[in-house]
Amino acid sequence: MTDSTPSNKKLQGKVAIITGGAGGIGEATARHFAAHGARAIVIADVQDEKGQNVAVSIGSNICTYVHCDVCDEEQVKTLVDTTVKAFGRLDIMYSNAGLGRATHKREQSVLEVDLLAYDKVMAVNARGMVACVKHAARAMVEGRVRGSIVCTASVVATMGGNKFVDYVMSKHAVLGLVRSASLQLGPYGIRVNCVSPGVVGTALLKDMFGVENEEAEKVYESSAILKGGVMAPKNVADVVVFLASEDSEFVTGHNFKVDGGNSLKVSQ
Ligand SMILES: NC(=O)c1ccc[n+]([C@@H]2O[C@H](COP(=O)([O-])OP(=O)(O)OC[C@H]3O[C@@H](n4cnc5c(N)ncnc54)[C@H](O)[C@@H]3O)[C@@H](O)[C@H]2O)c1
Repeated sequence: MTDSTPSNKKLQGKVAIITGGAGGIGEATARHFAAHGARAIVIADVQDEKGQNVAVSIGSNICTYVHCDVCDEEQVKTLVDTTVKAFGRLDIMYSNAGLGRATHKREQSVLEVDLLAYDKVMAVNARGMVACVKHAARAMVEGRVRGSIVCTASVVATMGGNKFVDYVMSKHAVLGLVRSASLQLGPYGIRVNCVSPGVVGTALLKDMFGVENEEAEKVYESSAILKGGVMAPKNVADVVVFLASEDSEFVTGHNFKVDGGNSLKVSQ
């Protein structure tokens, strides 16, 4: 057992799909799922080389990469169908793929919002999210699997933003999806939750704020309530493992913030 192998494996034998798994939070979660004993992890993304490299580094006996643009419902359906065909069932869908912005402008204020860019952000973050939940849930219902669906929202799902109105709206949509889907899928024993990260220094964050690695840490540190470190993708992945596993057997419709308490400041 290596240092990164937990003694209590929470996902033993599970079959999981992770969208947006080629980097950042999705990649960290794929590694966590493997460490927690998942039998099969299918990474879906549009960054093929990165996704393939992640799958190989986790181990091609456990992890595979599939090209899937979540904006295209047919591709999402194929992703789910091929997973079920290859591994017999789907236990976990982690719908995580996201786009921070679709315009070179870093404002997207309501006075100047670029609606073409809005459409692109919504196509990935809201439309893509419901396509993944829809097809995962259908596979779970058909296979009589009491599965777990986890979506990545954001702390901005419950806040207003000074900029990025399209991104903020898209994350509010994720919360509406999770609340509705958890009600509608409860009778089948399927749980639906979301994880809402604060500031994590991934490619998406750096692109949104126009910062490099060390500066990304400063974005977190400058706003941090909880001192003593910088939040990393692993910290979000820990919560996804909890929501995906039987440790959260009676948790559904929940929005789990992982932000070191930062969102408390603005809600008071
Ligand atoms: N980093 C943060 O501070 C932060 C905060 C709150 C929420 N989030 C959310 O976390 C999720 C993961 O983002 P991240 O921060 O790890 O950034 P990231 O850029 O590393 O990961 C996002 C992944 O989604 C993929 N993707 C984008 N469009 C896609 C599409 N159409 N189809 C399939 N895959 C697509 C990208 O290729 C990328 O690999 C996103 O939903 C993001 O909105 C991030």
